[in-house]
Amino acid sequence: MASAVRPSTYHKHDVVIIGAGGAGLMAAVQLAGIADVAVISKLYPSRSHTGAAQGGICAALGNSEEDHWEWHMFDTVKGGDYLTDQDAAEVLAREAIDAIIELEHMGLPFSRTPDGKIAQRRFGGHTRNFGEGPVMRSCYAADRTGHMILQTLYQQGIKHNLNFFDEFQMLDLLINDGQVCGVVALQIRTGELHIFHSKAVIFATGGFGRCFSVTSNALALTGDGVAIPWRRGVPLEDMEMFQFHPTGIYKLGVLLSEAARGEGGIVINSEGEAFAKRYAPTLADLAPRDMMSRFIYQEVKEGRGVGSGKDGVYLDLRHIPYEVQEAKLPDITEFIRVYLGVDPTKEMALIQPTAHYAMGGIPTDLDGRVLLNNTEVMPGFYAAGECACVSVHGANRLGTNSLVDLVVFGRRAGRHAAEFLRTAELAPLPPNADAFARDQVERLLSKGSGPTEKVGAIRETLQFEMFDKTGVVRNERGMREMLAILDDLKLRYQRVAIDDHTRTFNTDLLEALELGYLLDISECIVAGALGRTESRGAHYRDDYPDRDDQNWLNHTMVWKTSGGLRFDKKPVTITKFQPKERKY
Ligand code: FUM
Repeated sequence: MASAVRPSTYHKHDVVIIGAGGAGLMAAVQLAGIADVAVISKLYPSRSHTGAAQGGICAALGNSEEDHWEWHMFDTVKGGDYLTDQDAAEVLAREAIDAIIELEHMGLPFSRTPDGKIAQRRFGGHTRNFGEGPVMRSCYAADRTGHMILQTLYQQGIKHNLNFFDEFQMLDLLINDGQVCGVVALQIRTGELHIFHSKAVIFATGGFGRCFSVTSNALALTGDGVAIPWRRGVPLEDMEMFQFHPTGIYKLGVLLSEAARGEGGIVINSEGEAFAKRYAPTLADLAPRDMMSRFIYQEVKEGRGVGSGKDGVYLDLRHIPYEVQEAKLPDITEFIRVYLGVDPTKEMALIQPTAHYAMGGIPTDLDGRVLLNNTEVMPGFYAAGECACVSVHGANRLGTNSLVDLVVFGRRAGRHAAEFLRTAELAPLPPNADAFARDQVERLLSKGSGPTEKVGAIRETLQFEMFDKTGVVRNERGMREMLAILDDLKLRYQRVAIDDHTRTFNTDLLEALELGYLLDISECIVAGALGRTESRGAHYRDDYPDRDDQNWLNHTMVWKTSGGLRFDKKPVTITKFQPKERKY
């Protein structure tokens, strides 16, 4: 039986950070000792998805060969198909170097070169001298780089006695008179609501790969922290830009790091051909992910696919010696053994592109301040990491630029928030601060009458159709069909009913809430992709196969209004590198 509703518990802190992955913890560590910080996470912090990042963190340290931050900046801009804001790319590439050293000084156990420096490896799209050939730029800790970053930062959080609220599901962002003043969250263990009242709020909630059926993203990545501010009037930027990583385990989506190709792995079609060099003569298997995924798509389309649906290809690591696989790729070779049942020293691994990373999200400036339109910031509200869009990845992120985005822009958001807090006043809570969150929860917990719908059935249709119609290759027909499917799923969602009506660890309730976020976000992705009548980076349309700088060298912004979605454009910041055709 549902227990009686209790009044919300009230907490007051200077700043609340939602999300305890790399971006949230990096921000939190900057604020330690300066402000009273609460870190709220729907997970136990060390289960955050940063821990799943495998191959490396990018910085032009030049430990193994010559490198420069300008080369890193150029690759980031070109890799993003010139949708990257170049001021952001410059910040990323310059500050990456110092951020890695900061992590090293915190104790992060990087792999090492024979002379004791941080080890670096090749990754897709990272080049020497503005595109001449591959360069070793991705710093790594075997293929557990994200895991090591997460553990290191969490230990820092514990050392600094930060207030962790683990397993609290955020339900609402509190805003009073244009000023953020906290969040409402559900304590998963008790089912009780908590109001967190604060001067500043930092969102670092990660991405939303769970919109798709085949994804590398953890179950928790349902875009809660992107949908919640959007429902409160904050725009979202470049939502159509969603990256598919070429080497996910077939049908499962589990990531097999690009580090495998950085260490010499190659992709192979049904005819045994290493086909990437046919499409990308200079970088071959180290072409950027958007291109590699499209190469695979093309091979499959032309009948050279493998697997039960003939829609995959192989990743071949057989020529990489066992000792190297064990030292540099221990996790993914284990994944190949466990999930595919093959020995990677003897057999090839069956792979397919997997939904991996959102380039779009909550628009921010270079200090993580959330933007309400092209220029105006929302005082006290910050976002960093995958939920944010500082536009540093443009239309396609390069491998290992995600972990460095977390630490560079998480650090910037934390430092700016520390400045903001010096003079900020605590805005009063809005009247009935928890009413919206409470209504949502109570509606789902109550047993309504009439025909009902199941969360699992709606979610399965959503994920399957999104992967099919808004995946690696898109077109108007498929996306119009997808919008019609979304209309139907949203109607069905209004009738959704859950079976568990208790309050303790009610995962049925959580999944119903998460489905609402996935539906909202999927609509933004599809409507944005339909509107962008060109191909750029990860957004490839077979009905508009060319990039159109004349009409589309701009970001898209989307708002929720009572009349539906409203779109607008935002200029791309171009400083050093004029847009050119991408060749690799
Ligand atoms: O392939 C990988 O190891 C993934 C890295 C990334 O997404 O940056």
